[in-house]
Parts: sequence; C-alpha cells; structure tokens
Amino acid sequence: MDNLMSGKRLAADIKACVKRRVGSLSQMGIDVGLALIQVGGGASDEQYLKTTISVSKTVGIKTYEYRLPETASLNEIINTINQLNNDERINGLLVLFPIPRRINPRRVVNAISPEKDVDGLGSISVGMFAAEESMFQIFDKDDFVGGVSSAFRNRACVPHGFLPCTPFGVIRLLEHYGVEIKGKNAVVIGKSLAVGKPLSLMLLAKEATVTVCHKSSADLAAHVRNADIVCAATGVPGLIKGDMIKDGAVVVDIGINIMPDGSFVGDIDFKSVAPKASLITPVPGGVGPVTIATLLENTLRSAQNNVLLKTPLILQ
Ligand SMILES: NC(=O)c1ccc[n+]([C@@H]2O[C@H](COP(=O)([O-])OP(=O)(O)OC[C@H]3O[C@@H](n4cnc5c(N)ncnc54)[C@H](OP(=O)(O)O)[C@@H]3O)[C@@H](O)[C@H]2O)c1
Repeated sequence: MDNLMSGKRLAADIKACVKRRVGSLSQMGIDVGLALIQVGGGASDEQYLKTTISVSKTVGIKTYEYRLPETASLNEIINTINQLNNDERINGLLVLFPIPRRINPRRVVNAISPEKDVDGLGSISVGMFAAEESMFQIFDKDDFVGGVSSAFRNRACVPHGFLPCTPFGVIRLLEHYGVEIKGKNAVVIGKSLAVGKPLSLMLLAKEATVTVCHKSSADLAAHVRNADIVCAATGVPGLIKGDMIKDGAVVVDIGINIMPDGSFVGDIDFKSVAPKASLITPVPGGVGPVTIATLLENTLRSAQNNVLLKTPLILQ
C-alpha cells in the first residue's frame, strides 16, 4: 500500500541520533538511565515494558525495572519514585499505566521530579506545556534529528518540561510525511491527559482547527466526516469506520488493543478506512515506534540537562 504512514523509518532516524549522543556522553564517563515502574501489570504494559527495554538497549540507554505487586500501597509507590528521583543513574522515570484503580494516578505522576518526567505527565510539565512554555519543541526543526545546537541553546536559557511522547510523536509523524497541519480541520477522538488532550493542544499550536470528541460527543460520525486529519485514541477497537471518513483524509490510529487471539488492532477499522485515506498509520508499526523513540530522546535530553547543570562551561 502506498498510503501507509509507517513510524519505523522516523523512529530509526531518531534512535540513530540518540545512539550517537548517548555514545558521546559515554565517552565522557556518563551513562544514560531510564527507570520503568510497573504496578501489578496487564498484558499491554508488559508488552510495552519489554519493547522499551529492548529498544533502549539498542541505543545504549540503561534500563532499570521496578515491578511492584498489584497490592502495593500509594506510599510504597511514592517511596520507590522518591528513591529514583535521587538516584544519579536515572535520567528518566516512567510509571506504566494503567495502575490499580484504588491508586490516585495524579499523586503518582506528580511524585516524579519534573527533571525526570520524560513522559511529561506531571502537573508542572503539563502546566508549562499548556502555557506554551515548552511547546516550542514542536517547532524546533533542527532539534535533535537535525542538530545539536537548539537542544543546547534552549536549555541554556530556560529549564523546560518534557512533552508527552505519544502526541509529540504524532506531530512528528505527520510532519515526517509532509502533512500540512495549518488551516486544516483536525478531529481528535479521545481526551485523555496522556494522549487526546495534549495532542489537541499541539494541533492547535500548529494552527489546525481542532475538534475534540469523547464518549458524550453527540454525533461522532459527523465530526469525523468533516476532518482533514483524524486522530483516534480511545482504546475501542475499530471504532472509526470507512463511512465516517472524508475522501483523502489523513488518519492516525493511536489505539493499541489486544484481541482475544493475541493480535493487536487499532481504533480505526483499517480495512474500510484505508481505501479512503490519503495516508493512514498501521497498528502496529505506526505511532508506537515513534512514541518509544521519543521517550528515549527525552531521556537523553534529561541526561544532557544534567551535564549542563553540573558543567556550565560546556555552554561556551
Ligand atoms: N501508540 C502509542 O504509543 C500509545 C500510547 C498511549 C496510548 N495508546 C493507546 O491509545 C488508546 C487510548 O489511550 P488513552 O490512554 O488515551 O485511553 P483513556 O485514558 O482510556 O482515554 C480514552 C478516551 O477515549 C474516549 N472514548 C472512549 N470510548 C469512546 C467512544 N466510543 N467514542 C468517543 N470517545 C471515546 C474517552 O472518552 P471520555 O473521556 O468521555 O471517557 C477518553 O477520553 C489505547 O488503546 C492505548 O493503548 C497508544
């Protein structure tokens, strides 16, 4: 299919760049470390954990796994996070979701130090992003995959929050495929703090006209039919069908749903939507690889920030 928007190529470019820079830090005697905390654990986060660990290895980032039991208390989780906040080996800290329902997820993400909040979900990161203090990263063309300068330049003046990896990955994927966002009607289905909401703000910052749909949206099909860019993040397999899609729309499927037979499907009914879309992401192999590559990039940035803070002469 020639309208497939694969994330593999972009992810490979990002990872190659991260690997080079992790190598440079390693020559200075500095290791880059990512901690992953799992509480309980379902099949989907187990898969994400395994993939993240194996991809981290390929770029030279060391991973540290913390598996807490389903019965872990909020205090135990926060104590683990506090310990890792003060652990010099750790540059990025990620808690895998979902966590048990009795635990308040905001207490958990807010315990992560903003300097290590590489998925950008803590209130400080979210606030900086919503106030457009960290949003500049989505405009920074030469940041990272291109060159080193802006990453260091930005860091030199303002401490900034990390952008959430999945929505940031979606924007990068769209731009990688030359999709014009400015002036287009974009519909985001799903309004979670991790995906839908930040993605809608990023599309807005890129000057799309954005509609956000959710469970209470009165006529989902009508909104989707009006969209030039459709982004689905609901966790409902095959929710968006071909008859809801405008001819030539760009379709991004963020959903990852595990079916009873163990296969992965997205929120888009690929079979009926693909023939109408000008571009469409596959599941798996679309947004997922870019999300992980972006997480590793953020972890590297955190390590670079740390180096800059401790060796200010590098700025000159
Ligand atoms: N590709 C990646 O890298 C990546 C990363 C993260 C997540 N994901 C996947 O993306 C999906 C969404 O994740 P999430 O964390 O955002 O999930 P979430 O927190 O459960 O949020 C789901 C959102 O979808 C909305 N929704 C659910 N059913 C709907 C329906 N029938 N019609 C319209 N809206 C509906 C919900 O609306 P209400 O707010 O009204 O309840 C909610 O806003 C999951 O499949 C997840 O596995 C993929």
